Amino acid sequence: MNTRVIRVDEQHMDMALVGEAGDIIRAGGLVAFPTETVYGLGGDALNPQSSEKIYRAKGRPSDNPLIVHIADMEKLEVIVREIPESAWKLAKRFWPGPLTMIMHKSDAVPYETTGGLDTVAVRMPVHAVARALIRAAGGYVAAPSANRSGRPSPTAVEYVIEDMDGRIEMVIDSGDVEIGLESTIIDLTTDRATILRPGYITDRMLAQVLGEVEEDCTMMRADSGQAPKAPGMKYRHYAPKGELTIIDGVEESVVAYINTQIRRHMKGNKKTGVIGTDTSVSKYQADVCKSLGDRNDETAIARELYRVLREMDDENVEIIYAESFEAVGLGQAIMNRLLKAAGHRIIHV
Ligand code: TXA
Ligand code: MG
Repeated sequence: MNTRVIRVDEQHMDMALVGEAGDIIRAGGLVAFPTETVYGLGGDALNPQSSEKIYRAKGRPSDNPLIVHIADMEKLEVIVREIPESAWKLAKRFWPGPLTMIMHKSDAVPYETTGGLDTVAVRMPVHAVARALIRAAGGYVAAPSANRSGRPSPTAVEYVIEDMDGRIEMVIDSGDVEIGLESTIIDLTTDRATILRPGYITDRMLAQVLGEVEEDCTMMRADSGQAPKAPGMKYRHYAPKGELTIIDGVEESVVAYINTQIRRHMKGNKKTGVIGTDTSVSKYQADVCKSLGDRNDETAIARELYRVLREMDDENVEIIYAESFEAVGLGQAIMNRLLKAAGHRIIHV
């Protein structure tokens, strides 16, 4: 398949081009498109064949449900059995934006889209191109992140093309994304609202609206002995090809520990890499040293994380060490993704 790449700017949208992209989705095809979190791989959420195509293009197990993206509130009632009070409140505060809510699905949503579940994940993105595309496509776009299964979600169009060229009809290029980590997911089908995946909308922000929220116990730990409630979170996601270990401690001890390990691996002829921050990165002796940015600027760290993980792959780094971050606020999402990428390997020094 020949994948067409078109450029659509958020500020000056070419509606004719967006219309062409919408037509592809209406006809059952796939279009990768930008959102504020990461690039998505879009198909018609109400068309079972489209969802099957998404799984095939990603190389993803089909028991892993897709998020349905809408652009208008009145579309929500078509795809869910009922809209709980909590959903109205959260939508009022956080939609459009990087929040995904899980509700009981209506018959309009095929099981192919929900991975066989009776619930459906719904998100209303804020990115203008995403919103225009969803409307042009008929209102319901199923979209996982536009990466091949097991790779970090794409934060730039070059990564979408790297993973999807030849596998889908079209890619919409709108430049780099803003947030860089996937949306927060909250389950509203249980007695108490439960966060299944941390993101830019933090636990505190959600608790301000709902009073209190639970957190899925598998979110930050590998040893809870339970399966994650978001089926996708059980797969070794966001994984670089190299073996990644997180080192937690004060900067001086972390640098000393990592450099000792690096020297050992270099003797064994392994290519080494370190994911550090602005103040530490020059102190490391690895083959490839990358900074995620200013440790105090979490939004910048979130935006850089997946790019740096992919760069480690591109440079064929075999052994990777990463610094640790405080798991509060947006830091919780950063650590959740880093821990997954590391298969929960973390050493405290
Ligand atoms: O920011 C985002 O959410 C991006 C952009 C493209 O919108 N999308 C995204 O989709 O991250 P994906 O497919 O990569 O991740 C969706 C996650 C998976 O872990 C999946 O298991 C979970 O959402 N999920 C979807 N529907 C669910 C449901 N009904 N119940 C529990 N988990 C669900
Ligand atoms: Mg994904």
